[in-house]
Amino acid sequence: MEVVQTINAMQAYARALQQRGTQVAFVPTMGGLHEGHCSLIRLAKENADHVIASVFVNPTQFGPGEDLERYPRNLERDCELCGEAGADAVFAPSVADMYADGHTVYVVEETVGNILEGAFRPGHFRGVLTVVAKLFLAVQPQVAVFGRKDAQQLWLIQKMVRDLNFPIQIVAGPTVREADGLALSSRNAYLSSEHRRQATCLYRALQRAEDLFVAGERTAAILRTAMQELVSEEPDADMDYIEIVDMDRFSPIATIKDAALAVMAVRVGDTRLIDNWELSTGANKT
Ligand code: PAJ
Repeated sequence: MEVVQTINAMQAYARALQQRGTQVAFVPTMGGLHEGHCSLIRLAKENADHVIASVFVNPTQFGPGEDLERYPRNLERDCELCGEAGADAVFAPSVADMYADGHTVYVVEETVGNILEGAFRPGHFRGVLTVVAKLFLAVQPQVAVFGRKDAQQLWLIQKMVRDLNFPIQIVAGPTVREADGLALSSRNAYLSSEHRRQATCLYRALQRAEDLFVAGERTAAILRTAMQELVSEEPDADMDYIEIVDMDRFSPIATIKDAALAVMAVRVGDTRLIDNWELSTGANKT
């Protein structure tokens, strides 16, 4: 498996694939690979002949005081896991290559980019959209695969692709979970065993919302209160937000019509976790 380390080399690699007419599916990551990432690589393989994953801890999507420094970095292990999952190449550029001195151009979405995750992490989605646009221009895939775990990020990337006319099809992969429901995340590695136990409150809260929804409850405030109660039972869990959003516009709603997404962010100790669950009749629920 090839490891491509500069944007120039990646664009040359992409040109060579295009000349051969090879379809490329792309899976961007920040490394710290786990089964969630690997499942996306396998899904990418079902969608194209050639799969390229990227490993790049993107500094512009971290706010001051966030975990940029302690974010897990182990390129050798990440490449091994990418290879085992079926990637043909890994793009692993340096920060200096991605953000040359004097970089001043960013991609900003001006509505959904500022709420929920965007409100609690100002500038986060500006960093995400900018790096994803740059990665798209380096790798030039026909298909790109993202996880539903980061639902607001997925929505914003789909919006960017539409609004800026990237000729790329976005494919969404289901959330991979531990046996007790905790969504896999590179940040789970920060949790002590006690906090790991408390961290299941996110999934338990989402299941509580699901149970109420299945029983006929459609009022967002009631669902949110029930979820909040569950989170507040854990001594070291502090909620950033719990919301019920419309799936098309990703904006908070008061009453669910057909379907909605329950989204939440909770700090357990000093580890910030997010999760979401689709509330709909007969959906593919992960
Ligand atoms: P990262 O957190 O490494 O996630 C990379 C991809 O894996 C994202 O599409 C994310 O939604 C997906 N993913 C994470 N946990 C998952 C899980 N448990 N099940 C399924 N998919 C999961 O998201 C980012 O990196 C960055 O913001 C990035 C898009 C790479 C831009 O820097």
